[in-house]
Amino acid sequence: MFSTQFVLSFALLLSLPLLFLFAPRILPPKDAQITLPDELDDLALFRRATLASLHSPSTGTIRLGITNPKPKIAFLFLTNSDLSFAPLWERFFNHSHNLYNIYIHADPSAKLNPPGGVFANRFIAGKKTERASPTLISAARRLLATALLDDPLNSYFALVSQHCIPLHSFNYVYRTLFGSRFSFKFSHHFKSFIEILSDEPTLQDRYTARGENVMLPEVPFDRFRVGSQFFILSRKHALVVIKDRRLWRKFRLPCLNTDSCYPEEHYFPTLLSMEDPNGCTHYTLTRVNWTDSTGGHPHTYRPDEVSPELIHTLRESNSSSSYLFARKFSPDCLKPLMEIADTVIFRD
Ligand SMILES: *[C@@H]1O[C@H](CO)[C@@H](O)[C@H](O)[C@H]1NC(C)=O
Ligand SMILES: *[C@@H]1O[C@H](CO)[C@@H](O)[C@H](O)[C@H]1NC(C)=O
Ligand SMILES: *[C@@H]1O[C@H](CO)[C@@H](O)[C@H](O)[C@H]1NC(C)=O
Repeated sequence: MFSTQFVLSFALLLSLPLLFLFAPRILPPKDAQITLPDELDDLALFRRATLASLHSPSTGTIRLGITNPKPKIAFLFLTNSDLSFAPLWERFFNHSHNLYNIYIHADPSAKLNPPGGVFANRFIAGKKTERASPTLISAARRLLATALLDDPLNSYFALVSQHCIPLHSFNYVYRTLFGSRFSFKFSHHFKSFIEILSDEPTLQDRYTARGENVMLPEVPFDRFRVGSQFFILSRKHALVVIKDRRLWRKFRLPCLNTDSCYPEEHYFPTLLSMEDPNGCTHYTLTRVNWTDSTGGHPHTYRPDEVSPELIHTLRESNSSSSYLFARKFSPDCLKPLMEIADTVIFRD
């Protein structure tokens, strides 16, 4: 009796170091999980937004009545620190004839200096966000749902971060997205500007980052896509995203291999390439510089790199549209950017 107990305790003692060794692989990473109350909150919000769009006469499109309202762009700021470029955006929105709305999702644990002006009181109910976890997907979906509910005229939904800057005037951005006045009534034909790629060398590792075969059967490897986290979605596609339950069940699984796990770079491109590939451009309008990237972070521009030439270079694109936004810029780039705002950035 005594010896069995002894052997058992000894075995347990021995297995302790093993547990520590393998725990990070067995147990999901701490904090990165989405709690049930958070999930239920989100579901309720998504359901409200879905129902509202069913009952509103402008189901996914803008109805042109006698008042002939113009469609708006919803700017969705996803941040976990101060909106350092608020003054630059403020100037961007200054000549917009109010054809926009702003929504901000901030990680509640980040102590932000509340921005004023057009950003004042534009915060939505935010929850914790963390890299290498599905929380960034949830935050983007919360922004989309809130914007869908808030204003039926919101017709495009542009996700940006605190490190993004505009590369053109508001009017230029508006014309790029909506084209001529005439095309407003065909708003259900608006394409989403979202990058969708299938030829990334790291795709296999990213596919198995939640474990072998866990994405099946909903997401076979040959349907798995990657793309920039920053997109501009049409109203129709914003609804597709908040209605989805099928893929979310898979993408919400915690990352076991956090080095290869960027759920927000996969969920949106995979979902939209399955639901409506022809309704998407397959490229993003937000420029990012991946040269010499480290730890999944792109090049961050410093003040001494900011120049009129840089803005012109960042606009250049191989698609039919010029880039509209760029990232990442360090907060201290604000001063040199403001100096060239009117003469370069907002001059088209
Ligand atoms: C907005 O425009 C008005 C008039 O054109 C100008 O007086 C004001 O300074 C501008 N605000 C910003 C933040 O650029
Ligand atoms: C991209 O970043 C690299 C440094 O990582 C820099 O040398 C290069 O000039 C940048 N490219 C552009 C277009 O800004
Ligand atoms: C455009 O395509 C060329 C050739 O593939 C590539 O070298 C260049 O970097 C691309 N430019 C931009 C702005 O993406």
